[in-house]
Amino acid sequence: MGKQIGILTAGGDSPGLNAAIRGLGKAAMRTHDMTVVGFRDGFRGLMQNRFIRLDSNALSGILTQGGTLLGTGRDKPHKMDVGGKVLDMTDLMIENIHSHQLDALVCLGGGGTAKNAMRLAAKGVPVLTLPKTIDNDLAHTDTTIGFDTALGIATEAIDRLHSTAHSHHRIVVVEVMGHNTGWIALGSGLAGGGDVILIPEIPYRTQVIADAIQHRSASGSRFSIVVISEGAISQEASAEREQAVREKKSDDPDIASRGKATLERLTREAKDHTATLSRHLEELTGLESRVTILGHVQRGGTPSPADRLLATRLGTACADMIADGKSGVMVAMQNGECVPVPLEEVAGNRKTVPADHPWLLTARNLKVSLGDE
Ligand code: F6P
Repeated sequence: MGKQIGILTAGGDSPGLNAAIRGLGKAAMRTHDMTVVGFRDGFRGLMQNRFIRLDSNALSGILTQGGTLLGTGRDKPHKMDVGGKVLDMTDLMIENIHSHQLDALVCLGGGGTAKNAMRLAAKGVPVLTLPKTIDNDLAHTDTTIGFDTALGIATEAIDRLHSTAHSHHRIVVVEVMGHNTGWIALGSGLAGGGDVILIPEIPYRTQVIADAIQHRSASGSRFSIVVISEGAISQEASAEREQAVREKKSDDPDIASRGKATLERLTREAKDHTATLSRHLEELTGLESRVTILGHVQRGGTPSPADRLLATRLGTACADMIADGKSGVMVAMQNGECVPVPLEEVAGNRKTVPADHPWLLTARNLKVSLGDE
């Protein structure tokens, strides 16, 4: 009899999770004679010992399905909401891992999951992670499960917005996800031919964007597509935020509370930043502007072929690594190879878009406005 492994999916869902569960489960059973259980709803299911046996039947027919058959959640083992109280439930989770006699726990997740997995590893749990997030913001992996699908969905939306923007001679401001990184905005903005692309890594000036749109109008293009990441920020707000972060750390309680209040206001304002930008662009250009917020549609539906391949390769490689006795690692994709990366190198290490990234240089070569110059 081979090893026993447990799987859970944590954090926001993304297309390709089922493909990864299938790849991992099938390779574990067929190649390594392992038995596989899946915990429901992320770390909550592990805490409550809610699980299903992942046998051939359960893994059949799920390759193309979006979401996760296990369910997911954003719980953290050391900060679980239990009956209205926030408690550290790590030890109970470890007891459940022991009761199943697991040789390895595989957590499919993003940056938050890597941190949670590292905490379990520190308590002796043999844990591995697979990199999944539409945001593509995990360090030490070239890409993440779900990113390619989200990129495709966002690009198709931009394609469709082009014709209506063109017909009405409007500005269309389309907001895409990505949390605090601009991978989806930059990738889909380039692939979809956006005229302005705004990402969190490059704070923007509204006047610069308005000038770029007016320049287009003057040269006969009477519509503009602005692709904005949900985490994009203006230069003014960015400077204010930096100062507020410094103030919040002050020993002077008045200054610290002023910093805290500023940060709270900026967080509130950030929720409407796309609508605010659209309104300001109307005022500055005299053109009509409309907002489209793509939201969770970017996480839904069937995974792209690239994501199915990525998920299947990472899942099967993970089974091999467990068979080899590896743990405390994320199974990453680097230059076409599946490689183990120590969790401590991944956790808390967000992959932002570097200033010299080829996609950014391409955008600048095309004279796409990035809102900064
Ligand atoms: O991390 C994936 C992601 O979709 C981000 O792009 C977005 O900021 C966030 O999750 C949304 O989270 P929720 O599904 O909890 O609203």
